[in-house]
Amino acid sequence: MKEIIQQLEAKRELARLGGGQKRIAAQHAKGKLTARERIELLLDAGTFEEWDMFVEHRCHDFGMADQTVPGDGVVTGYGMINGRLVFVFSQDFTVLGGSLSEAHAEKICKIMDQALKVGAPVIGLNDSGGARIQEGVASLGGYAEIFQRNVTASGVIPQISLIMGPCAGGAVYSPALTDFIFMVKDSSYMFVTGPEVVKTVTHEDVTSEELGGALTHSTVSGVCDLAFDNDVDAIMMLRRFFNYLPLSNREKPPLIKGANRTEEPDFSLDTLVPSNPNQPYDMKELIRKIADDGEFFELQPDYAKNIVIGFVRMEGRSIGIVANQPLVLAGCLDIKASIKAARFVRFCDAFNIPVVTLVDVPGFMPGTAQEYGGIIKHGAKLLYAYADCTVPKVTLITRKAYGGAYDVMASKHLRGDVNFAWPSAEIAVMGPKGAVEIIFREEKSDPEKIAAREAEYKSKFANPFVAGRRGYIDDVILPHETRKRIARSLAMLKDKDLKNPARKHGNIPL
Ligand code: HXC
Repeated sequence: MKEIIQQLEAKRELARLGGGQKRIAAQHAKGKLTARERIELLLDAGTFEEWDMFVEHRCHDFGMADQTVPGDGVVTGYGMINGRLVFVFSQDFTVLGGSLSEAHAEKICKIMDQALKVGAPVIGLNDSGGARIQEGVASLGGYAEIFQRNVTASGVIPQISLIMGPCAGGAVYSPALTDFIFMVKDSSYMFVTGPEVVKTVTHEDVTSEELGGALTHSTVSGVCDLAFDNDVDAIMMLRRFFNYLPLSNREKPPLIKGANRTEEPDFSLDTLVPSNPNQPYDMKELIRKIADDGEFFELQPDYAKNIVIGFVRMEGRSIGIVANQPLVLAGCLDIKASIKAARFVRFCDAFNIPVVTLVDVPGFMPGTAQEYGGIIKHGAKLLYAYADCTVPKVTLITRKAYGGAYDVMASKHLRGDVNFAWPSAEIAVMGPKGAVEIIFREEKSDPEKIAAREAEYKSKFANPFVAGRRGYIDDVILPHETRKRIARSLAMLKDKDLKNPARKHGNIPL
């Protein structure tokens, strides 16, 4: 017995050492934590229950029989974040570059299967050279087993990927199938084919960082939701982010009461919208002023900035915010903004998180670039997402709600539960100038006549009352009472029950 316990301890020690002190030092020298250090930071102290520490690969080719490390390059198990259950895998770059063998994949699949059974999120800490080259197709099969589980679990349990090292080839597709991707600046990258292949095929000279670094994916491609300066920052923010999410689609998000008093008016909001309709203002100011404790967890802040998405709490409950941003492109909806918001609405809907939509939108972005890029199909994604969404939907029009964009942004017609407007709202087919230039084209050469027509159109339509008369707007509210009115609406909607007709699945315009 004593002997077996000694053996056990020796094996555990070996597993904890991963690829050995030299490689651990190399990992640290790159400013990266090891797989185990990351788990320790991520989970509440002392809560990690490790599984499969003794799993080894089964490959004998290319001298692999002599290169076994207990655990085979990935640490898996479960633990708690702020007292709530989560499953986690953390790839160990010190063991064969964290490369994915058949056995390594089986370990990840095991915790994914378990997470799905008990209804708890999966967090993947990715740091891997991709498919274990020595294993060939066994490793590719391993990836596909993970992909299948990512898809089966989609919309059932939240899945979050933190990219903390290389992530190349087909390996990027598991993170891409998860709900959120966070990256670490300067030490992580994601691409389907690396710089050498790019050079051969397209003759472009590009570095790994330019091709798929955190900056590229958080500003250019939109693949990544947030980029952080280092491992510690990324993990600490992930812990905060986790608090906004329910454990599964069977639950509501956790209740975390802040210090804010719901009914308190905020008179500064009365002057947020400038009197000149062409002057922008920062929609994030409104978001922070209606949020509990002024806290807004924004996602994709540097991508498609003309729309803002993220989580706040109201009376302690998580709320998804979607808001046009008049500061960027006048808040127009373009391809990137539509996709960004659509995917977020889908997440909220899948996980019982109400959506509050703040509208100031002059319409869809015109132009050949948008039309050739398929704005029709991509704009329809947002339309589809809102129309399909059954969680509570509260909408506030602060200023412009023009044209198709009025319809799309969680209007009454798309089953908006409570639709408010500020007195400054202008709900019309288009802005007065454009409208008059079309309807009264023959008077275009007479500036006086056109000005008079514009004033007439403005007085008729540039207000919230035309929509109000039809019941498309439930109430015109004063800006300073916004928080109270939205919070009361959400409280009223707490037990909303709406179901779409039974079907295998809809056909969202992909
Ligand atoms: C086996 C690997 C490996 C891999 C790295 N290593 N990648 N072993 N399979 N895929 C090993 C190295 O041999 C080395 O072992 C150790 O990990 C660290 O690697 P280094 O190259 O020394 O580290 P670094 O300089 O930081 O470079 C990291 C790297 C590079 C950029 C990831 O190793 C690399 O390019 N690896 C190959 C990447 C790749 O082509 N993967 C396949 C992608 S295709 P020692 O013993 O020296 O420490 C794919 C298909 C998936 O993944 C398909 C799914 C559908």
